[in-house]
Amino acid sequence: MHARLGDDLARLPGLLDEARAHAVRLLTGLDDRPVALTTGPPAPDPLPVTGIGAAGALEAFARRWEPGFAASAGPRYLGFVTGGATPASLAGDWLTGALDQNPTSGIDSSAPDLERETVAWLRELFGLPREHAGAFVSGATMSNFTGLAVAREWVGERRGVRVSEQGVAALGPVPVLSASPHSSVGKALSMLGLGRSALRRVDALPGREAVDPARLEEALESLGGEPAIVVANAGTVNTVDFDDLRAIAALRERYPFWLHVDAAFGAFALLSPDHAHLLDGLGEADSVCVDLHKWLNVPYDSAVQFTRRRDLQVRVFANSAAYLGPLGDDLDRVDLVHLTPENSRRLRALPAWFTLAAYGREGHAEIVRRDIALAGLLGERVAALPGYRLLAPVRLNVVCFTPEGSPERTGELVSAIIESGEAFLTPTVYGGVPALRAAFSNWRTTEADVERVVKVLERLAP
Ligand SMILES: Cc1ncc(COP(=O)(O)O)c(C=O)c1O
Repeated sequence: MHARLGDDLARLPGLLDEARAHAVRLLTGLDDRPVALTTGPPAPDPLPVTGIGAAGALEAFARRWEPGFAASAGPRYLGFVTGGATPASLAGDWLTGALDQNPTSGIDSSAPDLERETVAWLRELFGLPREHAGAFVSGATMSNFTGLAVAREWVGERRGVRVSEQGVAALGPVPVLSASPHSSVGKALSMLGLGRSALRRVDALPGREAVDPARLEEALESLGGEPAIVVANAGTVNTVDFDDLRAIAALRERYPFWLHVDAAFGAFALLSPDHAHLLDGLGEADSVCVDLHKWLNVPYDSAVQFTRRRDLQVRVFANSAAYLGPLGDDLDRVDLVHLTPENSRRLRALPAWFTLAAYGREGHAEIVRRDIALAGLLGERVAALPGYRLLAPVRLNVVCFTPEGSPERTGELVSAIIESGEAFLTPTVYGGVPALRAAFSNWRTTEADVERVVKVLERLAP
């Protein structure tokens, strides 16, 4: 054994203690750390030849890299849609690395069954019916990709083509209808060979991002009975608008289409009694995307995808080989290797299992309700601040607003907020207006954090 490896093996408990102490220092210091940084990378180091051992690596990381890392696990990182990591999920994540399971096949371990149990818990959390089978993927982009891959196979079934065997060329063009899809849908269509231009934008309701069901019906009517894919959005990134899922699902009585719902973070509105109605009809979807590294507050990377047609899913993702064992007939117990793009992968379900076991539905509902209330509070405060204008009502957990002044003012404000070290917000464009988004999905955020953000905005007001 290489000398450094041998040394590290002999001191493994001490090394893990050092890493633990380091992580504790990081987490307890989150509040004092700049929320975001633009310092850039350190000078590059050459590839180590003999290596410096794990303790040396920890020291080098802490010295060279860590000072430039954002406090994205903290309470005032409000950029994109970013969750933190609950204490239990972090413990689960550490054990994921320690156990180093590969849950793709179940012939050697019960790890895949832990994943099945977690998926069943999540299905219940999101009120999906038993027919929805789920699988873990790395993020909402992969969840959208997987759902749309099953959708593509379904369109093939309608047209008498096995896309998984014959390829997309045999399928021909597929219309994909949506009003305000996330950019990852275009990426998924590109990867699936359907092409980004397959996406046909349907008008949203006036002043909204939610699809106008009448316009959607017209678009479906114009297809003359051709099967299509509809991507419904349950929580858009700018204004967290929700398509009327029930109205869309009802259109399937007259038009043949696969209903994919991107509920990456919007699905969590189900945990707030005042907002659960926004997801009415979710269970009728053919496939559903939900991210877990956002509002479930598990560490990256983690998401789940659900579909009613696991048979088609297995057709697309089957990875049969003699050394992996037979596919089997029981779709509920099919090896996970046959469900998603990845073959070997980490036991991504374990952090989610830990946090659900530790805090349950009620604990997670409290996080969601608190974040919604805090977004509402920031919305009220921003609306009352001179120099700023809300661009949309705060529907759930995102505040979308713009500073008065020139269009460049938004970019300057984002940089000034970063420089303050107090918060991180991301820029966007909504309705043609450059804007900022403050997205609340971290379990640590409190009213005091909102007040700190307000103070910064007040100080930087145009
Ligand atoms: C609605 C929606 N869909 C998809 C995604 C893509 O998620 P990920 O970056 O986890 O792949 C996001 C990310 O913000 C999102 O908000």
